[in-house]
Amino acid sequence: MGWVQRSRNLGGVTFIDLRDRWGITQVVVDQKRAPEAHELADRLRGEYVIAVRGTVEKRPAGTENPALPTGSIDVLGSELHILNESKTPPFAVEDDAVITETLRLRYRYLDLRRPHLQANLMLRHRATMAVRRYLDQHGFIEIETPMLTRSTPEGARDFLVPSRLSPGKFYALPQSPQLFKQLLMVAGYERYFQIARCFRDEDLRADRQPEFTQIDIETSFLTREAFFALLEGMIQALFRDAAGRDVRPPFQRLSYADAMDRYGVDNPDTRFGVELRDLSDVAALTEVKVFKEQLAAGGIVKGIAVPGCAGYSRKELDDLGRLAADFGGKGLFWMKRTAEGLQAPFGKHAGEGQLAAMAERLAMVEGDLALIAADAPAIVAPVLGNARKIMAQRLNLASSEALNFLWITEFPLLEYDAEARRYVAVHHPFTAPVEADVPLFHSEPNKIRAQAYDLVLNGQEIGGGSRRIHRREVQNLMFSALGLSQEEAQEKFGFLLEALEFGTPPHGGIAFGLDRLIAIMARMPSIREVIAFPKTQRGADLMMNAPSAVEPAQLRELNLQVR
Ligand code: AMO
Repeated sequence: MGWVQRSRNLGGVTFIDLRDRWGITQVVVDQKRAPEAHELADRLRGEYVIAVRGTVEKRPAGTENPALPTGSIDVLGSELHILNESKTPPFAVEDDAVITETLRLRYRYLDLRRPHLQANLMLRHRATMAVRRYLDQHGFIEIETPMLTRSTPEGARDFLVPSRLSPGKFYALPQSPQLFKQLLMVAGYERYFQIARCFRDEDLRADRQPEFTQIDIETSFLTREAFFALLEGMIQALFRDAAGRDVRPPFQRLSYADAMDRYGVDNPDTRFGVELRDLSDVAALTEVKVFKEQLAAGGIVKGIAVPGCAGYSRKELDDLGRLAADFGGKGLFWMKRTAEGLQAPFGKHAGEGQLAAMAERLAMVEGDLALIAADAPAIVAPVLGNARKIMAQRLNLASSEALNFLWITEFPLLEYDAEARRYVAVHHPFTAPVEADVPLFHSEPNKIRAQAYDLVLNGQEIGGGSRRIHRREVQNLMFSALGLSQEEAQEKFGFLLEALEFGTPPHGGIAFGLDRLIAIMARMPSIREVIAFPKTQRGADLMMNAPSAVEPAQLRELNLQVR
């Protein structure tokens, strides 16, 4: 049984490509051997659903199709039934069809018939099976937590659900099961996991959906080392069992500070070099106005050396400079190393010795192009970090076969939000500070290091977690650092503060973005390719037409009025 991919009548013999989720099989219907089936075969069109009875036979020598796994056999059809007809589909059901995203999502059930999407969803199935198997073997239990809950602060906007029974009140859909999983540790379950759906009303990108799936994990009593080893084993089992790919723990580690210093971002792609180097000391010896001004104002000068781009034209260099503006910068300086030596527009103000010193610091070889930024550290990092990413993409520097896992550790606990004029949690408000840094709550909150970690794969954040605060005093300090009054903390998180007083074990956990993991495994450019029914960039479901208006009666029942 299956769908007609295509059907060709070559005189007395009809060849039908029959497609099902396993692939394509060629059916041969011979007018002489099966006249009824042959006549029916003439009516077939693309996407008709058919049943065929016949004999599997080796294809005659010379007619094999090595491109198909089934290319060495045919089914000689003796009977054919049309189970259902199909309208002409709005696009060809094949991988290389060129289709707009809108059309794909509107007819997602047809899109999902295409082989690559079928392969992606089957990969996803094998992946969740592998995760469940591994965690089960390691003493974890899967527990479901509520979807109708209160807002958990993970930094995004909540999706709200009005309550009919409590007029004027709302549930929030969970941004993650964070507080429930911590409470399960208080309850003594020790090792929890859940393949959990999370909801965040944030601006969407290729790697973000308003609802997405986490492999959510929490454990009690484990040291960080024991926990990392357990997780690395899970990732290894996942890639092996789902994709047949070899991953070798232990994964590399890098502190947040080093990641920012060397790569300018907290999710560096380490499949290629092109690291950032500090040039401030050399820049201070030049007469370049911007360098001097920035350094005097507490700024820094850093650069990267991009291989093979010394031949860039004036226009290409100007375009690169403009790219800096996207990340808050004013521009980029450049320097080329060619057979003629070093050239830079700022060369005559820098002096030859300084140019040579910068080139040496950046380990430039002939053909390299240096990109240099001078600004506040908080601007230099994203400008060069993103220039590094964009150039690597352009030059194809990252191997598509490599799987570079990297733990980023020692994130700061808090960062100052200038707009809100208060500190916000870098991870979330339940993340534990490094024990030795606790006194800094009273003096320099911005210097507190968190016991938080991210897992980065090929430059994408695929997981984030932390050890949690398990003592009430520390949770109080954290809430007050975030600007919550005691009353507010009590009102919002009273249940947690209370639970912390009933024998809360030391605990910690992590959540992996399942969609992102599968997208990388499947080498797909967007997580929409590994989600059965994803939403558009505007958060819409084009097939069901959601979100949609509702009946006035429904609103009345909920005590709501649309303005
Ligand atoms: P965090 O917010 O870092 O941590 O989320 C964990 C992982 O989930 C993925 N992710 C997303 N994937 C798709 N679409 C989105 N909108 C989206 N947002 C996040 C990312 C990310 O690394 N409760 C904590 C975990 C913990 O502390 O244990 C949490 O949710 O891959």
